[in-house]
Amino acid sequence: MNLIVAVDRNWAIGKDNSLLESIPDDMKFFRETTTGNVVVMGRKTLESFPGGRPLKNRTNIVLTNNRAFEREGAIIVHSMDQLDDVLAQFDSDRIFVIGGASMYRLLLNRCDTADITKIHNE
Ligand SMILES: NC(=O)c1ccc[n+]([C@@H]2O[C@H](COP(=O)([O-])OP(=O)(O)OC[C@H]3O[C@@H](n4cnc5c(N)ncnc54)[C@H](OP(=O)(O)O)[C@@H]3O)[C@@H](O)[C@H]2O)c1
Repeated sequence: MNLIVAVDRNWAIGKDNSLLESIPDDMKFFRETTTGNVVVMGRKTLESFPGGRPLKNRTNIVLTNNRAFEREGAIIVHSMDQLDDVLAQFDSDRIFVIGGASMYRLLLNRCDTADITKIHNE
């Protein structure tokens, strides 16, 4: 399993359910790295995307405690056990944890690689 994240000089990753900064080259890197693969995210990160829609051309897996939550084009899971069951169908190299903070915290120790973009903003 892999992790992908953009951080600022203080390792902050976002504010008010948005990214701190959106860098076109980094967005391109993110898109190219994850396209055709599996992305794992928390429900708030899904909501932060335009229209709250899943990412195109990727298998989107979303963790939430809300049993009533549904989103077209996303696989919804409610526990680590359920997440493991779904992830078992995929090659671990193809799985990317894409945030947010709660998901990095939850899955960091399961990841073999981390792609970290460090933004040296003022
Ligand atoms: N810089 C980056 O690369 C990057 C990448 C992604 C996100 N972000 C930023 O990260 C921030 C969001 O992070 P966040 O930590 O607030 O939210 P998050 O991790 O995206 O989502 C949190 C939600 O995930 C669900 N969840 C988490 N752990 C769970 C568990 N064990 N079982 C069931 N559900 C679980 C819960 O959903 P329910 O409330 O529905 O139960 C929880 O409220 C935003 O600012 C976003 O822009 C930054």
